[in-house]
Amino acid sequence: MKCTIVLTLVYYAIMASAAKTILLSNDDGWASTYIRAAYRDLKDAGYNVILVAPVSQRSGYGGKFDVPTSKTLETEGEFSYVKKGAPSWDHEKDDQNIWYFNGTPASCISFALDYLLPEKFDNVTPDLVVAGPNEGPNLSPGFYTASGTMGAVYNAIYRGIPAISFSGSDFNNSFFKDSLDDSKSNPANIYSKKVVELTKKVIDGGMPAITGINVNFPKVGTLLGKDDPSCDDPKWQFGRMMGKGVFVQNMKYNSDSGLMEWGTKYFDNISKDCDSGDCGLTAEYDIYLKNNCSTSVSVFTVDYDTTLSTSNTVKKLLGF
Ligand SMILES: *[C@@H]1O[C@H](CO)[C@@H](O)[C@H](O)[C@H]1NC(C)=O
Ligand SMILES: *[C@@H]1O[C@H](CO)[C@@H](O)[C@H](O)[C@H]1NC(C)=O
Ligand SMILES: *[C@@H]1O[C@H](CO)[C@@H](O)[C@H](O)[C@H]1NC(C)=O
Repeated sequence: MKCTIVLTLVYYAIMASAAKTILLSNDDGWASTYIRAAYRDLKDAGYNVILVAPVSQRSGYGGKFDVPTSKTLETEGEFSYVKKGAPSWDHEKDDQNIWYFNGTPASCISFALDYLLPEKFDNVTPDLVVAGPNEGPNLSPGFYTASGTMGAVYNAIYRGIPAISFSGSDFNNSFFKDSLDDSKSNPANIYSKKVVELTKKVIDGGMPAITGINVNFPKVGTLLGKDDPSCDDPKWQFGRMMGKGVFVQNMKYNSDSGLMEWGTKYFDNISKDCDSGDCGLTAEYDIYLKNNCSTSVSVFTVDYDTTLSTSNTVKKLLGF
């Protein structure tokens, strides 16, 4: 009997010390619904999760690296959840693992790795950085550079920590206090279950260095209709970021207003001489367009140097 108790205690001590650490961030803000659902479910899955995200909406900030210029907030945070005059960084009153920082997604990662984790979390190094799920898809290289969600992941990857970015097909910027419930058809809950599923595979398998995964979810649950159960458990589909269909940001002139208007454009097969990765894979944007309840999964590296054959081709044309 005694022996069983001791063994049980030893088991739990080993499990606790083996808990993997996940640094969780996003660009929609620390109080947005999807990140709070992901926090809840990753924690329930047994991970040591530390959430550090912007105090306000920072979509489209890419890798911009903002550092607060005052000790307190000069304007209120998103959803008025943090008031003007509050500290520039702080945690939830009832949870010391949930932090906001008055910065961009990229600078939130640095704040966590350079200050918060060394000072308050026993200098732990995260096993993985997870960003999102974002409100809105992040597909193709144009959004790789522009998205704050992506900014968070590449700022971790170039420091040697693997990272996954998750993006959902929902553009509503919702506050967790309004929108986080436990309903099965809530997209926040469907996405966060899938976040846990993929995170577990990556943590158990071990990711190669300087590598990230870009994940884009289709419309699910209530995003398809109030009682539409047709996509409550989207399938994974392995693809690539480039490929036949590439989605970019563009603009056009509006002669009525005399202004430029923001838009997006689909480029067909621009990587004609593809020699990076598996050129036969379907582009993530094409997977998304098919809208068949598939989640695109693309692996990328932040070693932006080109492949050996392309390097040699250009070296030769330069006469070096
Ligand atoms: C969008 O977000 C707002 C702010 O949280 C929320 O009040 C509203 O219910 C959301 N709308 C939908 C359709 O989820
Ligand atoms: C639908 O999704 C699956 C992934 O489960 C994929 O293999 C298949 O090619 C997709 N169908 C179409 C028409 O794209
Ligand atoms: C892309 O263009 C190249 C060169 O024109 C061609 O060989 C290739 O088959 C095209 N790929 C697709 C998927 O259309």
